Amino acid sequence: MQHLARRWQRAGLRVGLVPTMGSLHAGHLSLVRRARQSVGKQAKVVVSLYVNPTQFGPKEDFARYPRNFARDAGLCRAAGVDVLFAPGDDQMYPADPRVPFSTYIAEEDLSRGLEGKSRPTHFRGVTTIVAKLFHLVQPTVAVFGAKDWQQAAIVKRMTRDLNFGLKIITAPIVREPDGLALSSRNQYLKGELRTQALVLWRSIQRVRAALRRSARPLLATRMKAGLKEFIERQPDARLDYVEFFEPENLAPVAKITPGTHMALAVFIGRTRLIDNSAL
Ligand code: PAJ
Repeated sequence: MQHLARRWQRAGLRVGLVPTMGSLHAGHLSLVRRARQSVGKQAKVVVSLYVNPTQFGPKEDFARYPRNFARDAGLCRAAGVDVLFAPGDDQMYPADPRVPFSTYIAEEDLSRGLEGKSRPTHFRGVTTIVAKLFHLVQPTVAVFGAKDWQQAAIVKRMTRDLNFGLKIITAPIVREPDGLALSSRNQYLKGELRTQALVLWRSIQRVRAALRRSARPLLATRMKAGLKEFIERQPDARLDYVEFFEPENLAPVAKITPGTHMALAVFIGRTRLIDNSAL
């Protein structure tokens, strides 16, 4: 990958990167289209596919995360991707016990709240692997989904702080017709759980409707309590967190106004789902 990237650089070609963990869906493919649109026809678009172990906690779903390389490769080919970069664990994290992998990148401001509270080592894994991918692929632009709003903000911060010198684009969330945000983890939702998973989108709509009805800002504490009750009316749903914050720096707000951003994480059975939206 590095040799190829150098060759492209020497030829003056622009490169767009879409980092993924595979099990590709229409959300991922929308990022590929956005990357192509940004770099142009002559340029190269790379999709990386790597289920990154360092961003999973010890009790999380790394071992059972859905993997389907042949299907993903076909989707990339059909989408006009130039290179599907799918490294192995031994390449990304050399296992030699005498020379272990021991260098990590940690963003220390935006990573603390929201997902970072529930998943304390997650973003250190994300920033480390994304930095490695940036070094390997040398992209001109990289595209991330708004589905992982905090992740995109952290990658932007890292890119600025460490002078990676590429442009980070955030692309909108792709949803199912009924509102459920597409996710590789939706495959875990069998039968009745799929219906209950709609409660994330319904929660967002609920806050939007309340804000439309109200002449004054809404109190975040009251809204959070109401949403917890609303969500946990579903028999298999448990609220992990819901937060209201400023979209750029993720700072929590006490009063919800138009322009406030909302994010939530909910367990539906054993499956942890996230969603977010501007209000
Ligand atoms: P993954 O969950 O596979 O997501 C890859 C990219 O697709 C992310 O930028 C994510 O925000 C975006 N994405 C996922 N679902 C989406 C949807 N419904 N609409 C729009 N975009 C969506 O995020 C990761 O992988 C990893 O953390 C990674 C960045 C690859 C580092 O390992």
